[in-house]
Amino acid sequence: METILITGGAGFIGSTLANRLSKTKRVVVIDDLSMGKKSNLNNSDTLTFIEGSVTNLELMETIIKKYQFDYVYHLAAVASVADSVDRPVETHQVNFESTFLLLELIKKYVPTLKRLVFASSAAVYGDEPTLPKQEESVIRPLTPYAIDKFAGEKYVLAYNNLYNVPTSAVRFFNVYGPNQNPNSPYSGVISILVDRYKKQMAGQNEVFNIFGDGTQSRDFVYIEDVVDALILVATSPISRGEVYNVGTSTGTSLSQLIDMTNDILGTKLAISYAEGRSGDIPYSYANIDKLISIGYKSQYSVKEGLTEYLEKAMK
Ligand code: NAD
Ligand code: UD1
Repeated sequence: METILITGGAGFIGSTLANRLSKTKRVVVIDDLSMGKKSNLNNSDTLTFIEGSVTNLELMETIIKKYQFDYVYHLAAVASVADSVDRPVETHQVNFESTFLLLELIKKYVPTLKRLVFASSAAVYGDEPTLPKQEESVIRPLTPYAIDKFAGEKYVLAYNNLYNVPTSAVRFFNVYGPNQNPNSPYSGVISILVDRYKKQMAGQNEVFNIFGDGTQSRDFVYIEDVVDALILVATSPISRGEVYNVGTSTGTSLSQLIDMTNDILGTKLAISYAEGRSGDIPYSYANIDKLISIGYKSQYSVKEGLTEYLEKAMK
């Protein structure tokens, strides 16, 4: 049976991937539980959870030597752009140094690896205004998070070319869905939004804060599509050494998102406005032709994904 490592595998994207893959493969998850939760993971004989940090050289060396992985999905990170602006030194350790460490360990100990997939981000494109973003678009990372992701991506692809470590990278746009942790001010905006709807519908007075004027837009992509894309990129024979956008190719503004959610739930969210965040990107959406060219088929529009998420979240 193939053995797969998912770093950050108790988090939002990682746990959804782990639960899907452990149905047919042996999966090992490492997570320090800073944002992830063990309860995100299904109980399964084929899923092993290890609590620890990907920055811990000894621990990582032991795991990499012991399991001889076929596939590695490197998802562990401090995923918040704003948090990286507040804590550049700490976030650099996980957002960049852990990637470098992992590559070195695989180069040294796992000659049979089939693929490492690195979770990069649309944040690497920064505020260069041309839309949609293509893989070859101008890169203008604005924040420690985006700089670390771009450097990680470049190292991952260089290890493929220089040392024959088989790698690919994905640039996720804004992923949303069940198990995204809403409990930090830095959490993904849809998870916070859904949390506020739940609270307001339960009679609690927590308003949703829009940073800026609500015209900022993102390419919101549903988790099930993202897991499909990750597995496709890991297993495609032609994706080695390549980077792929993962999005829907549609931009949705925060105001549109709130209107859409009000419509689906038949309610009206109480909102307030606060100053825009520094380093925030005004508009972003993806061109995904490259991903489609290796066989990707999106299953969810924003409305469909949001409807499914709300059905699950409002239970
Ligand atoms: P998440 O915070 O839910 O998952 C990240 C996981 O990494 C968490 O479970 C956290 O506990 C863990 N982690 C953090 N530091 C760690 C450390 N030192 N050692 C071990 N584990 C550690 O976020 P997510 O949305 O699932 O993001 C997964 C990956 O995808 C991240 O690399 C993120 O940067 C990237 N990404 C996410 C999005 C998005 O919209 N969610 C978009 C672009 C890129
Ligand atoms: C998100 C991801 C990041 C990823 C990037 C790719 C998270 C936490 N961040 O960053 O990992 O690399 O997409 O595009 O998953 N906002 C509000 N109110 C809130 C929270 C946010 O108005 O309560 C605004 C933000 O200022 C921003 C927008 O909503 O304009 C989206 O914010 P956020 O969900 O944090 O996403 P990104 O910064 O795009």
